[in-house]
Amino acid sequence: MSEVIILSQDDVKLCLPMNKAIQAVQEAYIAFAKGRVKMPPVMHLDVSQYNGEIDIKSGYIEDFGLIGTKIASGFYDNHKLGLPPGIAIIILMDLKTSMPLAIMDGTYVTAYRTGAAGAVAANVLAKKDSEIIGVIGAGTQARMQIIALNEIFTLKEVKVWDINDTAKRLYSKEMSEQLNITVESVDSVKDAVVESDIVVTVTPSKKALVMKDWIKNGTHINAIGADGPGKQELDPMIIKVADKVVVDSLEQCKIIGEIQHALKNGLIKEKDIHAEIGQILIGDKKGRESDHEITLFDSTGLAAQDIAAANIVYKQAKEKGMGKLISLLD
Ligand SMILES: NC(=O)c1ccc[n+]([C@@H]2O[C@H](COP(=O)([O-])OP(=O)(O)OC[C@H]3O[C@@H](n4cnc5c(N)ncnc54)[C@H](O)[C@@H]3O)[C@@H](O)[C@H]2O)c1
Repeated sequence: MSEVIILSQDDVKLCLPMNKAIQAVQEAYIAFAKGRVKMPPVMHLDVSQYNGEIDIKSGYIEDFGLIGTKIASGFYDNHKLGLPPGIAIIILMDLKTSMPLAIMDGTYVTAYRTGAAGAVAANVLAKKDSEIIGVIGAGTQARMQIIALNEIFTLKEVKVWDINDTAKRLYSKEMSEQLNITVESVDSVKDAVVESDIVVTVTPSKKALVMKDWIKNGTHINAIGADGPGKQELDPMIIKVADKVVVDSLEQCKIIGEIQHALKNGLIKEKDIHAEIGQILIGDKKGRESDHEITLFDSTGLAAQDIAAANIVYKQAKEKGMGKLISLLD
């Protein structure tokens, strides 16, 4: 019986560079667009008696011969116990036999595959010479998004805003040192947005933070934070006026993505969504066509991204002889 590799977060960190994550996520979106991915709806479990929630994302990708499942939690009282506010675990199984292959930390995979998604989208939707980035939110994803964009664009300046002053100042110090570019912490959301070529929203907000009038022609927006019912970061009018609204999965985004609000308010209809990102990557739909277009990418995070990124980790770990091998079954 084959053995299963157990990979800790430290192992995963050594196996998933951002450039490989970008490539993996691009391949996942392409496989999805070609109908070679199966993903049931995200399963959400409320554990409100312990102030917790669990999301289960699962699916398979034929191209990689893998079934993958990620269990991710948010348990918001954990800090009282000295524990992190949630975990994520990914299980990979062989698509042909269902035999288990790997069990790994999913927190780092989620962070990297989400940053990578922003870069894949901006690569086909943002202006090629984009150099000023406005970031709303200064947490984990705010870091990942910029690390990933830095792989694709020659960044000159990042302007960051966060509800928490300490968080944005820390971000500015950390990221400017890490990327060796100017990272300015600004006083308002508007200051982060108005002159930016790419605007990235990465907060758990439940109300609009970015207003339509601040978005100049030619801007690309990566709307990353809204990945659950009720979550919102953009004025829905932005979605109405954008020239191209692109989603990772229409089925997911209409329920848990940024577009949920514009659809609910009747500002747009499903037919107004330009494409799923994979359709652009395989050439069925167009990406950016002029420097004037306002483009928007609504990301909710697909099981396919998790599986593709976890596959990189699995392959690298096997090659390097990392992790702990166990026989799970007799
Ligand atoms: N689309 C995806 O695939 C995907 C993947 C991972 C995370 N996310 C979402 O991205 C968001 C950010 O995730 P993260 O891991 O960076 O979280 P985080 O907790 O590390 O950072 C969030 C930041 O937002 C700030 N913030 C909190 N509430 C705010 C509010 N109401 N208005 C403005 N700022 C606020 C916090 O101060 C913090 O700095 C979450 O909503 C998360 O669910 C999406």
